[in-house]
Amino acid sequence: MRDFLKRLPKAELHLHIEGSLEPELMFALARRNGVELPYDSVEAVRAAYDFQDLSSFLELYYQGMSVLKRSEDFHDLAMDYFRRAHAEGVVHVEMHFDPQAHLARGIELEVVMEGLSLAQREAERELGMSTALIMAFLRDRPADEAMRVLESAAPYWEMLDAVGLDSAERGHPPSKFVEVFQRAKMLGIPRVAHAGEEGPPEYIREALDLLDVCRIDHGVRCLEDPALVTRLRDEGVVLTVCPLSNVRLKVVERIEDHPLPQLLEAGLRITLNSDDPAYFGGGMLDNFMACHDAFGWSKETFVQLAGTAIESAFMSDKRRLELH
Ligand code: HPA
Ligand code: ZN
Repeated sequence: MRDFLKRLPKAELHLHIEGSLEPELMFALARRNGVELPYDSVEAVRAAYDFQDLSSFLELYYQGMSVLKRSEDFHDLAMDYFRRAHAEGVVHVEMHFDPQAHLARGIELEVVMEGLSLAQREAERELGMSTALIMAFLRDRPADEAMRVLESAAPYWEMLDAVGLDSAERGHPPSKFVEVFQRAKMLGIPRVAHAGEEGPPEYIREALDLLDVCRIDHGVRCLEDPALVTRLRDEGVVLTVCPLSNVRLKVVERIEDHPLPQLLEAGLRITLNSDDPAYFGGGMLDNFMACHDAFGWSKETFVQLAGTAIESAFMSDKRRLELH
């Protein structure tokens, strides 16, 4: 089955590129940039990845990215991930990035965009992969800051496939970002949002009604609201589910308890994704394999899941035809 799942052409719709920073590269970049890390070995970094919830993860996630200083660091980060993903049979990657987390450290948007866009072109040329870029706003920071970031990104609007919403969910409902997302819509930029990972089903409704998103990132808590499940099914809303992430952040206790089978049973459009592969114990293939081991799904189920991702990806029709 591992061989089959590896060969299956997979599109990844939910990945934080800063969360793909493996400890080995973290140390190499720390050395290159003269950044002090609070760990003395790669093993010590991995040992620290024992999370209680989303917030305890985010603390280390924001600390880890302190080694990213120059555009070549962002380039190396993304290429490192694209190469690993390519080796696992991933043909298309949509990467979230967090400009505010970098701006807060004095790293300009231009530095981030230059590095990531160079890596995107290189992945296409050298690996035959397609990629997309999702600029995410940090929901635990003020909405007017997000608006300023969106405006200051004017030179790069054309390069953005979507805007997103991430970081600590509880207490930061989508409604806080209505104006920002309205502005993005006016600019013709598609929208996605994390909702229903730790937050209640109401946040999923808000993301749909107030932010007009075309996909929900995570969304697993929709099952607490049967009317919402019916709506998601009727409207064909895609959920970008991240099984290993949900285990590591204790959204579910064990992979066997994950509601993926119920979500599929309910007729929802589901995709499998890695979220922050360097922190959550594996990339796309590991997430697919974990589902295979836990749920015993057939090849047809995995073909369906991979197909849904390609159908709902930000890619040209030409590329979609190539992959389908
Ligand atoms: N959830 C919310 N925000 C994030 C995550 C996540 O899993 N990873 C990086 N930012
Ligand atoms: Zn995420």
